[in-house]
Amino acid sequence: MRISLKPFNSFNLECSAKALIEASTPEALQHAWLEANRQNTPVMILGEGSNVLFLEDFDGTVIVNRIGGIAVTESDTAWHIHVGAGENWHKLVEYTLNNGMPGLENLALIPGCAGSSPIQNIGAYGVELKQVCEYVDCIELETGKTLRVDNATCRFGYRDSIFKHEYQNRYAITAVGLCLKKNWVPVLTYGDLIQLDAATVTPQEVFQSVCHMRQTKLPDPRVQGNAGSFFKNPVIGEAQAAQLMQTYPRMPHYPQTNGGVKLAAGWLIDQCQLKGYQTGGAAVHRQQALVLINADNATSADVVNLARTVRQRVGEQFNIWLEPEVRFIGHNGEVNAVERIS
Ligand code: FAD
Ligand code: EPU
Repeated sequence: MRISLKPFNSFNLECSAKALIEASTPEALQHAWLEANRQNTPVMILGEGSNVLFLEDFDGTVIVNRIGGIAVTESDTAWHIHVGAGENWHKLVEYTLNNGMPGLENLALIPGCAGSSPIQNIGAYGVELKQVCEYVDCIELETGKTLRVDNATCRFGYRDSIFKHEYQNRYAITAVGLCLKKNWVPVLTYGDLIQLDAATVTPQEVFQSVCHMRQTKLPDPRVQGNAGSFFKNPVIGEAQAAQLMQTYPRMPHYPQTNGGVKLAAGWLIDQCQLKGYQTGGAAVHRQQALVLINADNATSADVVNLARTVRQRVGEQFNIWLEPEVRFIGHNGEVNAVERIS
C-alpha cells in the first residue's frame, strides 16, 4: 500500500511514497535510512515539504524529521539556543520572542522545520539565518557519527550552503544552534520596516509588521498550495544591469557587496504580464509573481510546464534565465531543476 505525500508537501500535490517513517531521534532517523539502503530502495529526508516539488511518485522511503526539543543557555552577552531539527521554525520564532530573546523577528512566518533553515540559509526582510546560526549538528548516515558544523564551514550564501553540495545525501541535520545577541539592534532596511523608528521600535512590532507584509503578499499554503518563491532572484553582471536600467529605470536592483547586481525575479515575471497566467491547475500568483500556486487541483506536470513557460518568457524578454529555488524530487530522489524546465 502506498502512502500519500499530499499532507507532506506544501504544494498539496497528489503523489505517494512506498513508505513513510517519522523519526523523532537521530538514531531512529539513521536506522530508517540504513534499512532503506539495505532494501536497496531510494530514501530521502523531509522536513515540512515547503521547498520541494514532487515530480512523480517516490519509489522509496520518505523519512520525516520529527526530532524535537529546545534548550537555552545564557552568557553575559547572548542567548544560545539549541533546537531539534524537527521543531517548527515559526513556533521557534514565537518562543524566542515570548521569552524575551529577540533576533528572529524578521524571519517570522517562514514555513518549515528549524533543521531545514540552514540548507538554503533562509532569509527574509534583511536578515539571513547565517547571521544567527552558531552551528549545525549532523549525523553521518552511513556510519552514525555525529558532526558539529560551525558557521564558517556551512559556507552560507544566498539561498545556499554546504548542505546543498558536499554534505547533501551524506549527512542529516539533527539540530541547529542559534546565537541571539542581548544588545538587540533592529533590522529595518526592507519593505514596510523602513517606516519604523529604530529608536523606539520593539521586537514585537517588527514581528507584527513582517507577519502583516507576508500575509498580504504570500498565499497561505493551506488555502493555495505553493512553495514560496519558486525561483531565486538572479544575480547578473554590472554591465548587463546598467544596460537594463537604461530601458527600465524603475527596475528594482540590489548591488551586491561581492560584485554583481541582484534583480527581483518577481518584477521580471510581472513585466512579462504573467501575473495570473495559468497552465492546467497551476498559476502565477496575482499578488506576487515569483510564487507559483496550485490554483485548482494542479498536477506536478502543470507546475513544471508553467515554470518552463515563465523561465522562457523572462529569458526571451530580458536574456536572464531564472533558476528554481524549489527542489525537484523525482522517483529516485532529487533531479536537476534547471534541466527539467529548459
Ligand atoms: P523541506 O521542503 O522538507 O526540505 C527541503 C530540502 O531539504 C529537501 O531537499 C530535503 O530533502 C532536505 N532536508 C530536509 N530536512 C533535512 C534534514 N534534516 N537533513 C538533511 N536534509 C534535509 N524560504 C526563505 O528562505 N525565505 C522565505 O521568506 C520563505 N518564504 C516561504 C513562504 C512560503 C509560503 C513557503 C511555502 C515557503 C517559503 N520559503 C522561504 C521556503 C521554505 O520555507 C524554506 O526553504 C524552509 O527552510 C523549508 O523547510 P522544510 O522543512 O519545509 O524543508
Ligand atoms: N515585485 C513586482 N511584482 C511582483 C513581485 C515583486 O514588481 O509580482 C517587485 C516588488 O515590488 C519589489 C521587488 O520586486 O520591488 C521584490 O519583491 P519582494 O519584496 O516581494 O521580494 P522577493 O524578491 O520577491 C524575496 C525572497 C522571499 C522573501 C522576500 C522578503 C527570494 C527568491 N525570495 O522575495 O523569500 O520572503 O524577499 O525578504 O529571495 C522564499 O525564498 O521562498 C521567499 C518567499
